[in-house]
Amino acid sequence: MNQPQKPIHFALTTPLYYVNDVPHIGSAYTTMAADAIARFHRLQGKNVLLITGTDEHGQKIQRTAQSQNIEPQQHCDKIAARFDDLWQKLNIQYDRFSRTTAPKHEKIVKEFFERVSNNEDIYLDRQQGWYCVSCEEFKDERELTSEKHCPIHTNKKAEWRDEENYFFRLSKYQDRLEHLYATRPDFIQPPSRRNEVLSFVKGGLQDFSISRINMDWGFPIPVNPEHTIYVWFDALLGYVTALLDPEDDPTLEKALKNAWPINLHLIGKDILRFHAVYWPAMLFSAGLEIPDRVFGHGFLTKNGRKMGKTTGNTIDPFDLVDRYGADAVRYYFLKEIEFGQDGDFNENRFVTVLNADLANDLGNLLNRTLGMAKKYCQAQVPDLTGEAIATDNPLKNQGIAITPKVIQAYEALNFTQACEHIFDLIRACNKYIDEQAPWSLYKQKQQDRVEQVLYAVLESVRLSAYLLAPIVPDLSQKVYQQLGFSADFNNPTCLNEQLQFEQHSAWGILPPKQVLQKAKPIFPQLELSEE
Ligand code: MSP
Repeated sequence: MNQPQKPIHFALTTPLYYVNDVPHIGSAYTTMAADAIARFHRLQGKNVLLITGTDEHGQKIQRTAQSQNIEPQQHCDKIAARFDDLWQKLNIQYDRFSRTTAPKHEKIVKEFFERVSNNEDIYLDRQQGWYCVSCEEFKDERELTSEKHCPIHTNKKAEWRDEENYFFRLSKYQDRLEHLYATRPDFIQPPSRRNEVLSFVKGGLQDFSISRINMDWGFPIPVNPEHTIYVWFDALLGYVTALLDPEDDPTLEKALKNAWPINLHLIGKDILRFHAVYWPAMLFSAGLEIPDRVFGHGFLTKNGRKMGKTTGNTIDPFDLVDRYGADAVRYYFLKEIEFGQDGDFNENRFVTVLNADLANDLGNLLNRTLGMAKKYCQAQVPDLTGEAIATDNPLKNQGIAITPKVIQAYEALNFTQACEHIFDLIRACNKYIDEQAPWSLYKQKQQDRVEQVLYAVLESVRLSAYLLAPIVPDLSQKVYQQLGFSADFNNPTCLNEQLQFEQHSAWGILPPKQVLQKAKPIFPQLELSEE
């Protein structure tokens, strides 16, 4: 553990999920996207730090534990383990799992609070207002329904609070925040979310309370232990605690030494205000740098309707993965729903998309091409290199053009577009085979042409699998394996040694005469198996 740490090139976070309940599809969605981005950067040889974790304090969690007659910590341990289970099932390669009940986190929160307090940004005042326990947030009365229900948690009534709280002087940072948004237009993405934040901030920022009384599930305020630190003030700092190496003393200095500022906070649109307004202001106050980018994705619905336990309109991510596999779930949500927009889950559509893209367009293509290679080329890659393929070969041209486009799409977190570019190439391969008809060429004894065609297709399939690996790593692995490679997309060492980006993201690297494996379906034809 005393070896020098490798510098981090890219650090990103998912939200730290509330442990009031087992993970839902919304948490899975953000985490799948984060994992795909992390894998894309790792594929490029970067040292990545993917941070996820759980947000374990606050009234919502305290009440859940009470209702089950167990200690809050015991409840948190149980649910945090369920998150980890889901991440294993979904093939999420996280580097840090930050839990806000960790003792080291308390030290970080205390030190941060003191910095902000020394900067005279904390004061005691009276807080009156409507509090939504499910959001853990005070709501403006205008936002509530006539029955005082929260717009997000429409089955829950907001609670009236009138108590003394410590406040954070957010209003002091109005100008600095506006300056931040103006000078770093990419700080909040996509643009629609940025506009939401700009108009909220333009309306004038008000100080917000950062302590609660009569609620002890959280850290005490250092100067007044009757008060408990507000769950959001505590939770955002979980991103900082996550940066500590296991052997580090829990200090801000140690935590921030190698991966600060965070490059990307990935969140859902409902928690944008906390990340794009409160969080940078807290960091300004503590004299710390601001993260590079906050991306707020959209909300998922099921069959066109809002999801919710009370209505029974839910998607259980565990069940979905059990029935269809991790790659299927990852592919559907990342390809089918434009990242940043709201999107719908419909099981018929799910099955149709997966069968069309993965089982048919890609799976059958590999299958039939390997079949022909076996018949016409002794189950080997034809004895050619990419350079030997004619410069006007359509697959070669498209293959060369696609990588920069896919890189650009991943960098913009546009998974849909990355997949579209890749599947354009895959569909072009199917068309090319049909047009070239290698079986006829073979009958006509045009072996050279047969080999040219098969090389171009096999190589295009390889490149497609490589570029899809951040989204469907197991599927890419199977394609690579059948093409005769032994490297593993799930193994970071292989990424750096046998699957190097510079080489594998280029068209034309499939080694001549590489022995091909037996064709096996890489993705099963799915049938609707509604619960
Ligand atoms: N604990 C806070 C985050 C603190 S971060 C320092 C929290 N947790 S949460 O578990 O309620 O929400 C986690 C994520 O799930 C959020 O990004 C939220 O947007 C996302 N989703 C919750 N429901 C969702 C959908 N129906 N659709 C997509 N994502 C949604 O907030």
